[in-house]
Parts: sequence; C-alpha cells; structure tokens
Amino acid sequence: MASTSKFAGKATLLVDQQGPEPTMQYNKFKLVVMEGPEAGKEYVLDKERVSIGSQADNDVVIPHETVSRHHCEILVDERGHRIRDLVSTNGTDVEGCRIVEGFLHPGARIGIGEVVLLFHLLQEKVEVPLSPYNSFGQMLGRSLRMRALFHLAERVSSRDTTVLISGETGTGKGLLAEEIHLHSPRHDKSLVVVDCSTIPTHLMESELFGHVKGAFTGAVATREGAFQQAHGGTIFFDEIGELPPPLQPKLLRVLEKREVKPVGQTSTVPVDVRIIAATNRNLKSEVAAGRFREDLFFRLSVFEFKLPPLRERKEDIPLLAKEFLRAICGDPKRRLGSDAIRYLSSHQWPGNVRELHNVIERAVHLVDDQTINAPSLMATSLTGVGPAPDSGSWGGRGKYSFVEAREMAEREYLIDLLRRHDFNVSAAAKTAGIHRQSLHRLLRKHKLSARELEQEASEA
Ligand SMILES: Nc1ncnc2c1ncn2[C@@H]1O[C@H](COP(=O)(O)OP(=O)(O)OP(=O)(O)O)[C@@H](O)[C@H]1O
Ligand SMILES: [Mg+2]
Repeated sequence: MASTSKFAGKATLLVDQQGPEPTMQYNKFKLVVMEGPEAGKEYVLDKERVSIGSQADNDVVIPHETVSRHHCEILVDERGHRIRDLVSTNGTDVEGCRIVEGFLHPGARIGIGEVVLLFHLLQEKVEVPLSPYNSFGQMLGRSLRMRALFHLAERVSSRDTTVLISGETGTGKGLLAEEIHLHSPRHDKSLVVVDCSTIPTHLMESELFGHVKGAFTGAVATREGAFQQAHGGTIFFDEIGELPPPLQPKLLRVLEKREVKPVGQTSTVPVDVRIIAATNRNLKSEVAAGRFREDLFFRLSVFEFKLPPLRERKEDIPLLAKEFLRAICGDPKRRLGSDAIRYLSSHQWPGNVRELHNVIERAVHLVDDQTINAPSLMATSLTGVGPAPDSGSWGGRGKYSFVEAREMAEREYLIDLLRRHDFNVSAAAKTAGIHRQSLHRLLRKHKLSARELEQEASEA
C-alpha cells in the first residue's frame, strides 16, 4: 500500500498545547431492570456505546423472547445520552413513544420489547483524553470521537501491540491501518495487506506462510508468504472475519509463536511482524455464533479501534468535504457553498467517508461553477445524497433518494435470492449470474449473512 501524502501538513492544532491535555467528559449512567425476568438487576455503565439485546455479546444481556438479539444501543457523546433502536422486532420505546433514535433524560423509562428499564444519570464522570489535532496523518476528523481515537492511535502506533479495527464500510479502516504503520517504528519496512475475502480458501495457507517447490501441483518454485514478506514490518489482515475456519488455528499459532511453517516444509521460519486486522462484521457476534474462534479473537483484539459511522460524527463532514475538494481539483479558488455543506450534512451516508469522497469527486468533474452550491450538488450526485431519515422527512418510497431506493431494492433482492436457494451462496450466485465472491461482497455491503438468514428462517 503506497502512501500518498495528499493531505500532508493539514493538521491543525485545536488547542494550546501548553495547557492541560484536552479531554471530553461525560456522566456514567445506570440502567435498572424494572419489569421482566431480571427485575431489580442494575447495570452501571461507563462506555461510549452500550449495546442491549438478548444475545450474550451485548453489554446488557436481557434474555427475554420479546427482546431481539441486538435490540438497541445507547451512545454517549458531548451532546448527551442517545438511545437508538437497532431495527428490533418488537421496537424500543421511551416513555411510551416508539422511537428510532432520541436523547434520554434522567429517569426515562425505556421499553425494550416487554422489558422495562429505568435510565439514571450518575454524578461520576468519565474523562476521555483527546488529541489536540484534527488529523492523524491523512486521516481527518474534528469530532470528539475522532479526536479521542487519534489520541489512542498516536500512542498505540509506537508500540508493537496487535490492533483490531472495526467499522462499517468506508469508515477508514484501511486508512487507519496504513497510518498506524506509518506512525510506527516499522514505517520504513513493508506493510503487507492480506484481504481474507478475496483469497480462495485452498490458496490461503500458501499465501500466508509460503510454500516450497513441489509442495503441491503448480508449486513450480519456492515462494515466500505474506508473513515473510512483512518481516520487520506490518501485516494487515483485511476482512479478518472471512478467514476460513481451518486457517484460524494456524494464524493463532503464528501469533503465539511468531514463526511460520511454509507448505511442504517441516521446519519453521521465525518472523518479526506487527499485526493489524480489520473487520466490518461484529467479530464478537461471529464468536458467539461459533464462526470465529474465541481464542483468536482475544489475541487480535488486544487493542480495538471502533471507527464510528459518518452519520454519528456529522461535525467532520465540512472538514472532509473541503479537504476532498482541495485534494481532487487542486484549485484553491473552487469552494463549496454554505448551502452545499448544509445539504451534505443532512445525508445519512450509508457508504460513509468513501461515499462523501465520491460525491465531491463527481461534483468537481461535472459542475462548471467555481462555487459548488446545493442545487448543482443535487443534480450531479444522481443522487447519492438524499433526505436524512432522521430529518423527519422519511416517509413513503418517493421520499428516498435514487441511490437509497436502489440499495433497498438490492437488499430485498438478495434476501429473496438466498431464500429461494436454501441459503446456498454458490447456487444463488449462479442464478443471479454473478461470481460467488461478488455475491459475498454484496451481502457484506448489506450486512447480511446467509447463515444468519438461514438461522432466522428456521426460527421463524
Ligand atoms: N477520516 C478520514 N479522513 C480522510 N479520508 C478518509 C477518512 N476516512 C476514510 N477516508 C477515505 O475514504 C475512503 C474509504 O476509506 P477506507 O478504504 O479506509 O475504508 P474501509 O473502512 O477500509 O472500507 P471497506 O470496509 O469498504 O474496506 C478512502 O479513500 C480513505 O482514504
Ligand atoms: Mg477496507
């Protein structure tokens, strides 16, 4: 992964470094189960994101038949404590009103299916240190959540700690991995990327650990694997959730012993690598579902970075949009009108930062005016940008943007396609006339899993 420094030198010091380290503060809170099987139970919470649901991988586990596996979550930031329903079957309500998302006030009664929780704000505060900068290498962000992440990234980079990066598609997982490598003492050695979602299972072992001549049909010469290529540097496992089960114990062994055994060779070769892994799946749920080894998960998640979706850090949109405009067109006179910025800030950004970059890129090429305003942005984004579902205008189908409507249709098609093929991805791909890997990619994009759908169908 070559590093281009298109955003180099853009770091802005946001606070006087002479002063105390900047921090973000928020109150701890408590949830008390009022009704239901666990009545009386209390949870004291101090995390920025607390998940609630019936499955064991949640922070608050409520085993009740009216509670969905991942039912809702509470998000904490400088604006307060927000509760958000995670498209649960029986819904989430606050004081009797069914909600999609909203701010909680102290003493609020939360209905989760048929279970009732009481929300209490505690006096004790959690203090989160922030980076004084609005960037980490090429990675930009002025929201407190990104600055908290930059603060940690600055510290973690200098050590050899294994890092796990999670986040939706387009949130910058690949970029963060690259920046951690570039900020580490290994920066002048290679960063080798292994995309677990694209390497065929039968070639995986040789790709990772190498092979000797004649080890298998087609092994015409001895070849180094990714670990040997990364020796002295960093190896980045992208889409680690896709690592085939037979390879999982083998990877665990390398992490523990720091040596690899090339295919067809009896002796081992020592390797000195720093490991970074990324996933857009919830690896904890994959572990709970028995698809990912727990011991490997613990080894990888020594240090976890969770990249927030762009819709949860809209403060970053003006900074990112202006920087993308500058980097793409290189003409300092071109600018985004304030109406265009407002327009961009109202979108939900399902494709996150990548989608924002694409929208700006299209506007740069298609708009002639020096100032790109909202109407021309709307006209050129065809329209990647539509009304935000939380803006109150989320109504009938006609209210969706073209891209959103297409995404919804695509999702429905995929679910239907899989149902018709008994959740067999290969068979479904054949009918759809696309490659199996492409179907996997589409499913990942929509956060769908053939196995989970099958499980749901059998439970229904
Ligand atoms: N905070 C950021 N500042 C500047 N550019 C960013 C930021 N986050 C992401 N980008 C840019 O957005 C694009 C998408 O980011 P990236 O490829 O790292 O996402 P990802 O999380 O790895 O997505 P996927 O899951 O689809 O692989 C890249 O061009 C990246 O450089
Ligand atoms: Mg990526």
